[in-house]
Amino acid sequence: MTDIFSANFTFMKVLFVSPEVSPLVRTGGLGDVVGSLPIALRSIGVDVRILCPLHRECKTLETRFFAKKLRLKLGKKTLPVRLGQTTLGPSGVPVYLIENDELFDRPGIYADEKGDYPDNPERAFVLSKTALHISQISGWSPDVFHAHDWMAASTPAYLNAADPKNKIGKPRKSVLTIHNLEHQGIFSHENFLQSGLPKDYWGIEGFEHNACMNLLKGGIQHADKITTVSPTYAQEVRTKAFGHGLEECLKYRGADLVGILNGIDGDGWNPMEDPALPAPIDPLAPKQGKKACKKSLLKEMKMPSSSTEPLFGVVSRLYSQKGLDLLIQALPSLMSGSNAKFVILGSGAKEEENAFLELSRKFPKRIGVFIGFDDGLARRIFAGTDFFLMPSRFEPCGLAQQYAMRYGSLPIARKTGGLADTIKHFSRSLQSANGFLFNRANAEDLKKVINRAIKLFGNQSQYAKIQANALTTRCSWDFAARQYLEVYQWATS
Ligand code: GLC
Repeated sequence: MTDIFSANFTFMKVLFVSPEVSPLVRTGGLGDVVGSLPIALRSIGVDVRILCPLHRECKTLETRFFAKKLRLKLGKKTLPVRLGQTTLGPSGVPVYLIENDELFDRPGIYADEKGDYPDNPERAFVLSKTALHISQISGWSPDVFHAHDWMAASTPAYLNAADPKNKIGKPRKSVLTIHNLEHQGIFSHENFLQSGLPKDYWGIEGFEHNACMNLLKGGIQHADKITTVSPTYAQEVRTKAFGHGLEECLKYRGADLVGILNGIDGDGWNPMEDPALPAPIDPLAPKQGKKACKKSLLKEMKMPSSSTEPLFGVVSRLYSQKGLDLLIQALPSLMSGSNAKFVILGSGAKEEENAFLELSRKFPKRIGVFIGFDDGLARRIFAGTDFFLMPSRFEPCGLAQQYAMRYGSLPIARKTGGLADTIKHFSRSLQSANGFLFNRANAEDLKKVINRAIKLFGNQSQYAKIQANALTTRCSWDFAARQYLEVYQWATS
């Protein structure tokens, strides 16, 4: 079978290597980025394609398989792999799917209810190494391999290990994007031996970190260029407080490390045309739409309707990074000291889930909680709330604050990573402010900033000005796509 994607691009061929791509298969922000950045890159002429495992969720997609099969050598093992191809929705961006049912036809991407899959290293190696065989199977050969996060992070090492006079006969470069340094892919030395990578790729200059195999570290050491998902995070990761033990390694590679702020998919997140909303929100005249969305959200959460009390929203995974334990601490005194209401959608750590449920039982008229994930409800929370909370301890970029702004909910967030880069704090000047930032991760400071927001809500004309700024904050991918193109050019120059 020949490649069905034969668009004539004039320059730069880039293969995204990623364990998830939205809307095909996603657990969070990584999937969203891999599902939307390629569309923006394609619109500026980059021939970008995506490689992802054929997870169970992808089984229902219309997929055409290449006749040529691959027998992938990994250390002592040889694994059968078939490559399918589909497209990323109507965008036309080609997606190659790696079929090996034993490894990828599973209930979750990384884990099931028993926990992380024990063969995750092998699954990561299969994803990373298959990238090198794309041209052999499809006839299309990338100039740049762009790996995302730990599961794809050994791609640069496989590339470096391949014969430089490889079959394609031209140098191929790699870029690694770190979406979240907390997840590094830490396994044993035995797991490293499974990779089939040269033995000297172990060690302090390679995959070894604290006597373990660290896939992300191997990627950082081997990639030609490294990016993180916001400029502030690119600085933070070089420090002990944010480096998760890899700060020295990131400092060492500092000259090749840049931060590029994620955008959001403006078509997928359009409050004028979002079918999940009970009413459209016009960014230039939001009042009516916001009011209808707020009323309907309160009803959906079985809370009494009122437009005069400020409504705060949360849409998040619940674990320590997200800092929602601070909100749990702050809520009881906010209940007695203010008239604010809260709507929380999330899941994760059982203690946090239970604490929120307990609070909603205690204050059913003022705190609504939904444990789980529901894309429609998430959208209705962005649309129906006045403020959106993200007290993250660290946040590489954060997409939710951008969705919130686009839907007219003012973000309240800790001044870290991409939150610091996207939110302009409300101070005396109303000119450019689009939300609130606070510095220290403690319940007291969170409470203070929430009270500040409540006060602003009392002055509707000021609130409307900040809301207008939020609604018109530019969050598109166009700028980021051009910056990525520069990184690809930098890598290949
Ligand atoms: C990770 C980060 C988040 C970022 C997302 C997409 O989920 O935690 O901050 O927005 O990746 O890059």
